[in-house]
Amino acid sequence: MKIVPLCERMEFFDAVVQCLWNEWGKCKNLTLSFWECWVRSSLHPAEVPQTYIAISETATGDMRGEQLLGTVSLWRSDLQSRQDLTPWLGGLYVVPAFRGRGVASALQRYVLRRAASMSIPRLYLMTEHEHFYERTGWIFLGTSPHETGVDVRIYAHDTSDCDEA
Ligand SMILES: CC(C)(COP(=O)(O)OP(=O)(O)OC[C@H]1O[C@@H](n2cnc3c(N)ncnc32)[C@H](O)[C@@H]1OP(=O)(O)O)[C@@H](O)C(=O)NCCC(=O)NCCS
Repeated sequence: MKIVPLCERMEFFDAVVQCLWNEWGKCKNLTLSFWECWVRSSLHPAEVPQTYIAISETATGDMRGEQLLGTVSLWRSDLQSRQDLTPWLGGLYVVPAFRGRGVASALQRYVLRRAASMSIPRLYLMTEHEHFYERTGWIFLGTSPHETGVDVRIYAHDTSDCDEA
């Protein structure tokens, strides 16, 4: 597996949009074009916001055999009710067939390292999952209202601790 910025492998753009729309678009009534715009606006080559992809590596190094395994982004904001916190790890998604193999953990480590390389000291994320991000060293800060009406859990991770994620 390798992890690279999506802006360097734009042939995976449509697949990333489709994954995010399938996972979060339909339940939140968001259109495919909403996600296209969101991902397209998260492709900065050198600073936040950025989107990354995990792709499989073929034994022969043939790029045509590569498959999308998962994606994650670094966003300025992911929760309207907490504009005081930035930036955020968001859009963490692993293709169902590749779950349970450490892809999500590797994507988290990668984002933390990228943020550290941009001199960003701390990342935040929001989730409804419990006992998932604790596994990779994220610290629970508390809950906050999400615009859909539910309270979400907010976590933080110092980028200097990125080897633990
Ligand atoms: C959640 C998700 C990213 C995990 O991806 P993954 O590549 O399977 O994760 P990893 O292999 O790195 O870690 C798997 C471990 O996390 C655990 N785990 C997975 N989902 C979990 C959850 N919702 N709550 C608690 N633990 C969870 C697994 O049981 C597994 O534990 P094990 O290693 O002891 O067997 C993936 O299931 C996914 O894309 N889900 C849909 C989108 C989503 O919920 N994204 C997170 C939004 S905040």
